[in-house]
Amino acid sequence: MSGSPADASAPTESQVRRASSSICSGSTFSNTDSLPQLPFKHYDRDAIRDNLQERVRFGRDFLRFSPDDGQTLNSVAKLIGPLVKPTVDAVYQQLFRFDYTARFFLKRNAGFEGDHAESLDRLTLDDPQIAFRKQILGGWVRKMFESDFESPATWAYFDKVAAMHTGLAAFKHRANKDPLVVDLQPMALLLGWVVDVVVKAVMEMPDDVADSTTKLAVISAFNKLVWLQNDLFVRWYAKSDDELAAATARTKAADASA
Ligand code: HEM
Repeated sequence: MSGSPADASAPTESQVRRASSSICSGSTFSNTDSLPQLPFKHYDRDAIRDNLQERVRFGRDFLRFSPDDGQTLNSVAKLIGPLVKPTVDAVYQQLFRFDYTARFFLKRNAGFEGDHAESLDRLTLDDPQIAFRKQILGGWVRKMFESDFESPATWAYFDKVAAMHTGLAAFKHRANKDPLVVDLQPMALLLGWVVDVVVKAVMEMPDDVADSTTKLAVISAFNKLVWLQNDLFVRWYAKSDDELAAATARTKAADASA
């Protein structure tokens, strides 16, 4: 069979062994035949739900986002710096592709004093308020690389970024402003889109700037961090067991076939 066209792209036995050993080295299993060692590591479910730092501790432990991952991101912060502006520009092009996501930008931004578009037909990427917002979003992108990931304040910031899209003020400077409520789907989709941009940008870096080991480490750490940010989105949007049961009961009452 070997040598047939169908086999041309199939991985060799040694490639499969190498990939499988790399997958296993990132998990609890030392090899595919062994079982996890008891006792299980304990985390309290209520604490994960109610306590931000405990939730982050579990999320980090599960994904194995280690201090080394944080340092990897810090170590390339200077290389990423020039990519922040084009990334943020592209984020707005992306959000302005759809009326559903563009309409959120018609309201006055917290802290912005000038004129701004108030209808979709006047909204452009050059709107003065959008330039202001780009600076703020650039701050988030930078924090994904420059933060001290061992500091609870870093996770408190990422948590506030999540909470402020669910109708809460979250930040002091947003107190007394109109609530912003963005659905979870575009929040999560935008994170996925940012990963796509960053992965491509890192892979396109010349090898003398970042070798393949560095690129792999950066992409791995960034991907884990994005999932931790996404988990903080979920924390604010997801319902508690009781709320979920009540919502399900309401749906069933409204539609007997549900
Ligand atoms: C990857 C997902 C997202 C991240 C990380 C993010 C991050 C941020 C940050 C850092 C701010 C400024 C916080 C501050 O005032 O200090 C902000 C504000 C805002 N975001 Fe998002 N955002 C995301 C997704 C979205 C989406 C999908 C929309 C709408 C479609 C949106 C609409 C807004 C609006 C309208 C504001 C301004 C609110 C105000 O100050 O009045 N965001 N966002």
